[in-house]
Amino acid sequence: MRTLHTIQELRAAISGFRNQGKRIGLVPTMGNLHEGHIALVEKAREAADIVVTSIFVNPMQFGAGEDLDAYPRTLKEDQSKLQAAGNDLLFAPTALEVYPNGPGRQTQVLVPVVSEGHCGASRPGHFEGVATVVTMLFNMVQPDVAVFGEKDFQQLAVIRKMSRDLFVPIEIIGAPTIREADGLAKSSRNGYLSAAERSLAPAVYRSLTHIGAALASGSDDFKALEDTARAELADTGFRPDYVNIVNSETLKPAAPGDRQLTILAAAFLGTTRLIDNLTVNR
Ligand code: PAF
Repeated sequence: MRTLHTIQELRAAISGFRNQGKRIGLVPTMGNLHEGHIALVEKAREAADIVVTSIFVNPMQFGAGEDLDAYPRTLKEDQSKLQAAGNDLLFAPTALEVYPNGPGRQTQVLVPVVSEGHCGASRPGHFEGVATVVTMLFNMVQPDVAVFGEKDFQQLAVIRKMSRDLFVPIEIIGAPTIREADGLAKSSRNGYLSAAERSLAPAVYRSLTHIGAALASGSDDFKALEDTARAELADTGFRPDYVNIVNSETLKPAAPGDRQLTILAAAFLGTTRLIDNLTVNR
C-alpha cells in the first residue's frame, strides 16, 4: 500500500489505475481507524477494484472550542490496519495541501434543509465543513463509488443530497454501524472516555432501542418517547444534546403516517460528545 501526501501524486497514481480500466472506491476518514472504518474499506473493496482511503482531520468541520487539536492522529497504526485490510492507496494530505489559502478563504458547499437541526443546530458550520471537504476529496480522487458510515446518519444524508443536487457522478454507499459487544457504536471519540464513563456509554444505544421497540409496536407519542429517553440519559449521568425521532428521508420531525423513522441522539458524557441512531420500519 502506498501513502501519498500531495494531490499531484494522488492524481498520477489514480490516472494509472484509470488507464487500466479499474473502478475506484473512496473511503474518506479522519484517521484513528477502528473496526467501523475497516468495514467501510471492506465495503469499498466489494464495489471497486482499487480502494483509496483518505485520512484528513478537517479543520473546517470543527467549531471553536471543539476537539480539533485533541483529535487522535495515529498515522502509523492506521497504515498497518489499512494494509491488513487490503487498502490500495492512502491519501493523507496536510491542511496546507487541502487549504492553501486557509480554511477561512475556502469556497464552501452549503446543503440546505438536511443540514439544519440535530448536529447542524448544535455544531454551526459543521456540515458546511464536511460537505466542502467531501466535495474536494471527490474532485481530487474522482472515484466511482464512495463509502460512508451510517453512524453519522445526518452526515450521510447531507452527502447524498449534495451529490444529487450537484449531479456528482459518484455512487454513495452507506455502511451499517459497527458496535462494541455492549452496544456502544464504535467511534474514534470513545477513546476520550474514562473507564467509568465507558461503562455508562452504552446507555445511548439502550435508549435508542427502547424508543425503537415502542415505535415498532405502533406508538406515535414521539414527544413523550423523546422526553423519556432524554431523562433516562440525564439520570445515567449524560448531558443530552438531543434525542429526535425523524422521518428517515427528510430528517424532519416524524409524523404518524411515516413508514420509516430514525431516532437521532447526541449526548455529552463529561466532555465527550457521543452520537448514535437507529432506524425503524413500520
Ligand atoms: O466522517 C468523517 O470522518 C468525516 O466527517 C469525513 C466524512 C471524513 C469528512 O471529513
